[in-house]
Amino acid sequence: MQTGKITIIGYGAMAQAIGEGLKEKYQIEIVGRNPTKGEEVAKKVKGNFYPLEGFDITGKVVILAVKPYALREVAQKLKGTGDILISILAGKKLEDLKVIPACHYLRAMPNIGAFYNSSFTALAGDKRAMEVGVALFSQIGEVIELEGDNEIDIATSITGSGPAYLGILQEAIEDAGVYLGLKREIASKLARGLFASFGRINEKGGIIKEKVMSPNGTTAEGVFKLQKEGVPGKIMEAIIDGYKKAKRI
Ligand SMILES: NC(=O)c1ccc[n+]([C@@H]2O[C@H](COP(=O)([O-])OP(=O)(O)OC[C@H]3O[C@@H](n4cnc5c(N)ncnc54)[C@H](OP(=O)(O)O)[C@@H]3O)[C@@H](O)[C@H]2O)c1
Repeated sequence: MQTGKITIIGYGAMAQAIGEGLKEKYQIEIVGRNPTKGEEVAKKVKGNFYPLEGFDITGKVVILAVKPYALREVAQKLKGTGDILISILAGKKLEDLKVIPACHYLRAMPNIGAFYNSSFTALAGDKRAMEVGVALFSQIGEVIELEGDNEIDIATSITGSGPAYLGILQEAIEDAGVYLGLKREIASKLARGLFASFGRINEKGGIIKEKVMSPNGTTAEGVFKLQKEGVPGKIMEAIIDGYKKAKRI
């Protein structure tokens, strides 16, 4: 049963993933500059397409899902004052969003898990709009409420970019399996199985490491190698650099 209306500006990968998750509960409007692309996506999410130029957002709950650099251009094409504007744009601050008039502003940072209905979405902004934001993004996975732009920029680097870093790790593990003699298909299954089972543990990293690392054991050998080569520090650097980049957008 559909419980409300939602307007999504953009029809790219993220807009589609969010639309897919919302389509059973919400009546969806897809808004964008290219009718061919927009109508195709609107059909997939059981919604209607509307051209961006002159689109009136008055009183609407709007999810903004275009590229960060497009914010100002999109703002110039819209008219009216929205009820809640929820931006998923990396790096764009709550203050930046005010180029699009709305009563309440939220920033949401979903991740690629959204394509599999398993996003981990960070939300921050106007507390009065939080309930609506949580209800929406709970449709595509888990939600965590954060405080303000800085925490969202940190989350962007951890849960937003993180899947790319874990993708590199997963591929390296698979390659190691092949190096040691496994067929690619088997090595790939083992690497994916590892991540799938790990994802269900939901425990602090240090505790997981302690449980696996027995004295003078095989894991201790590997942990020593990772520590000696500075891998934990490099991972921290990647997250910190991603955060700094989010600050510069
Ligand atoms: N991908 C992720 O994992 C992820 C995670 C969290 C947040 N995000 C954020 O989600 C947003 C969308 O990312 P995406 O991965 O969905 O990108 P995408 O697939 O490339 O889609 C980009 C969308 O932006 C529209 N767009 C770009 N320039 C525009 C302009 N000048 N005017 C109007 N529309 C414009 C595109 O329309 P056209 O096709 O007509 O250009 C398209 O609908 C980004 O701001 C990103 O920071 C992405």
